[in-house]
Amino acid sequence: MAWTPDPSRWHGLFTLLLAGMLAASTTQAAEKIEPSTEMTPAGGGETACPECPANPGVHGILGGPHFVVADPRTPAANAACEACHGPSREHTLFPTRIASIRFGEGSHLTPEEQSAQCLGCHQGDHIDWASGTHAAEDVSCVSCHSLHAGRDQVLNRVTVADKCVSCHLRVRMEINKPYRHPVREAAITCTNCHNPHGSPAEAMLVRETVNQTCYQCHAEKRGPFMHEHEPVQDDCMHCHNPHGSNHENLLLVRAPFLCQQCHSDHSHAREAYDFEDLPLGSGSRQSRVVGGACINCHSQIHGTNNPGRRSMRQ
Ligand code: HEC
Ligand code: HEC
Ligand code: HEC
Ligand code: HEC
Ligand code: HEC
Ligand code: HEC
Ligand code: HEC
Ligand code: HEC
Ligand code: HEC
Repeated sequence: MAWTPDPSRWHGLFTLLLAGMLAASTTQAAEKIEPSTEMTPAGGGETACPECPANPGVHGILGGPHFVVADPRTPAANAACEACHGPSREHTLFPTRIASIRFGEGSHLTPEEQSAQCLGCHQGDHIDWASGTHAAEDVSCVSCHSLHAGRDQVLNRVTVADKCVSCHLRVRMEINKPYRHPVREAAITCTNCHNPHGSPAEAMLVRETVNQTCYQCHAEKRGPFMHEHEPVQDDCMHCHNPHGSNHENLLLVRAPFLCQQCHSDHSHAREAYDFEDLPLGSGSRQSRVVGGACINCHSQIHGTNNPGRRSMRQ
C-alpha cells in the first residue's frame, strides 16, 4: 500500500526530529548515518516531499522548469524529488535518515558524482563538460546553480558575473579597474566570452580562438587589411586585457612601452621621445610625441588599407 502523508501527525513528530537532526549534524562524524537506498513507493516521493515542512526554503523549485508535470523529461514526471536526491524511502518515513543524495558541502558524493546526477538528463546540452576546466577542478553543477531558489543567480545576465567572481578573485579585481568592458553594467558579461560548461578552446572561450571571440563584437578588427600588423592577427591579448586595465583602451601597458616590448631594435621606435630621431621634418614634433606617443602617428594600429601607408599611419 502506498504511504499516505498525514500532515497533522507530521508536525508534532517533526519538532522532535528536527531537534534530533540538529544534534545529529554535530555528531555526524562519530555516528555515521546510512543513506536510504529504496525508492519511495509510487505516490510517496511526489506527495510526501513537497509537503514536508522541514525546509520551506526548498519549495522554490516547485514553480520552476523542473516541476512542469506535463513535460515528460522533468523530474516532476520522473520520481520527483528522488530524480535528483536518489531513492529515499527511509527518509520520507524517518526524516532523520537523510536523502540518499545530497549536494554541495554536506554531500558524501564527490563533485563529479554530484554532476553525474544532473548529466543523466542534461548530457545533451553539455557535451564539453567533462573536458572543461571546471569539471577538472572539482567545480560541480551546483557550485553555480541554485535549484531550489526561485531565481537562479547564474541564469540572470545582471547577476551572473557576481557569482563567477565569487571564486575568480583576480578577475573581480580586474573588472573593477578604471578601463574595462561594461560588465558591471551587464552590457556584456562573462558568458559572452566564456562557456562555463566547457569548450574545446583554451580558457573555455565560446569561439575557437581569442580573436574569433573578440570579432563577435569588434568585427571591424578582423580585416583583411592590405597592411596587417602581425600581433593583431595573432592574438589581441598581446596588447589588451579583456577583463580590465589601468590604461585606456584596456591596454596591458601604456604606449610607447607597449610598442617597445617588440620594437626596440631600430631607428626611432627605440626612442620615440627623442625628437631628433623622428623620421619627419621639424615643426610639429612636440605635439606628435606627447600623450599617445607612437599611436599619434601610427594611429591605424590594427591594420590599414591605405596602399601607401605600410606603417599603419592612416
Ligand atoms: C533537479 C534536481 C533536484 C530536485 C528535483 C530536487 N532537489 Fe533538492 N536539492 C538539489 C540541489 C542541487 C540541492 C543543493 C542546494 C541547492 O541547489 O539549492 C538541494 C538541496 C535540498 C535540500 C537542502 C538540504 C540538503 O540536503 O542540503 C532539501 C531539504 C531538498 N533539496 C529537498 C528537496 C525536495 C523536498 C524536493 C522535491 C520537492 C527536491 N529537493 C527536489 C537538487 C534537487
Ligand atoms: C529528470 C531529469 C532532470 C534532472 C535529474 C535534472 N534536470 Fe535540470 N532540467 C530538466 C528539464 C527537462 C529542464 C527544462 C529544460 C527545457 O525547458 O528545455 C531542466 C532545466 C534546467 C535548468 C534551466 C533552468 C531555467 O530556469 O531555465 C537548469 C539550470 C538545470 N536544469 C540544472 C540542473 C542541475 C544542476 C541538475 C542536477 C542537480 C539537474 N538540472 C537535474 C531535467 C532534469
Ligand atoms: C561555472 C558556473 C556553472 C557551472 C559549474 C554549471 N553551469 Fe549551467 N549555467 C551557467 C550559466 C552562467 C548559465 C547561463 C548560460 C548563458 O547565459 O548563456 C547556465 C545555463 C545552464 C542551463 C540552461 C540552458 C543553457 O545551457 O543555457 C542548464 C540546463 C545548465 N546550465 C545545466 C548545468 C549542468 C547540468 C551543469 C553541470 C554538469 C552546469 N550547468 C554547470 C553556469 C554554470
Ligand atoms: C565554485 C567556484 C567557481 C565558480 C562559481 C566559477 N568558477 Fe571558473 N573556475 C573555478 C576553478 C577552481 C577554476 C580552475 C582554476 C582557475 O583557473 O582559476 C576555474 C577556471 C575557470 C576558467 C579558466 C579555464 C581555463 O581553462 O583556463 C574560466 C574562463 C572560468 N573559470 C570562468 C568562469 C565563469 C564564466 C564563471 C561564472 C559563470 C565561473 N568560472 C564560476 C572555480 C569557479
Ligand atoms: C571580452 C571577453 C571576455 C569577458 C567579458 C570575460 N573574459 Fe575571461 N578571458 C577572456 C580571454 C580572451 C581570456 C584569456 C584566454 C587566453 O589566455 O588565451 C580570459 C581568461 C579568463 C580566465 C583564465 C585566466 C585568468 O585570467 O585567470 C578566467 C578565470 C576568466 N577569464 C574568467 C572570467 C570571468 C569570471 C568573467 C566575468 C566577470 C570574464 N572572464 C569575462 C575573455 C573574456
Ligand atoms: C559581446 C560583445 C563584445 C565582445 C565579445 C568583446 N567586446 Fe570589446 N567591447 C564591447 C563593448 C560593448 C565595448 C564598449 C564600447 C563603448 O563603450 O563604446 C567594448 C570595448 C572594448 C575596448 C575599448 C575599451 C575602452 O577603454 O574604451 C577594447 C580595447 C575591447 N573592447 C577589446 C576587446 C577584446 C580584446 C575582445 C576579445 C577578447 C573583446 N573586446 C570582445 C563588446 C565586446
Ligand atoms: C599591437 C598591439 C595591439 C593589438 C595586438 C591589438 N590592439 Fe586593439 N588597440 C591597441 C591600441 C594601441 C589601441 C588604442 C589606440 C587606438 O585608439 O587605436 C587599441 C584600441 C582598441 C579598441 C578601441 C578603439 C577602437 O579602435 O575601436 C578596440 C575595440 C580594440 N583595440 C580591439 C582589438 C581587438 C579585437 C584586437 C584583436 C583582433 C586588438 N585590439 C589587438 C593595440 C592593439
Ligand atoms: C607583440 C609584439 C608587438 C607589439 C606589442 C607591437 N608590435 Fe608592431 N609589429 C610587430 C611585428 C611582429 C611586426 C611585423 C614585423 C616587422 O615589421 O618588424 C610589426 C610591425 C609594425 C610596424 C611596421 C609595419 C610595416 O609594414 O613596416 C609598425 C609601424 C608597428 N609595428 C608599430 C607598432 C606600434 C606603434 C605598436 C604599439 C602600439 C606596436 N607596433 C606594438 C610586433 C609588435
Ligand atoms: C612623429 C610621428 C611618429 C612617431 C611619434 C612614431 N613613429 Fe614610427 N614611423 C613614423 C614614420 C613616418 C614611419 C615611416 C618611416 C619610413 O618609412 O621611413 C615610421 C615607421 C615605423 C616603423 C617601421 C619600421 C621602421 O623602423 O622604419 C616602426 C616599427 C615604428 N615606426 C615604430 C614606432 C614606435 C614603436 C613608436 C613609439 C615608440 C613610433 N614608431 C613613433 C612616424 C612616427
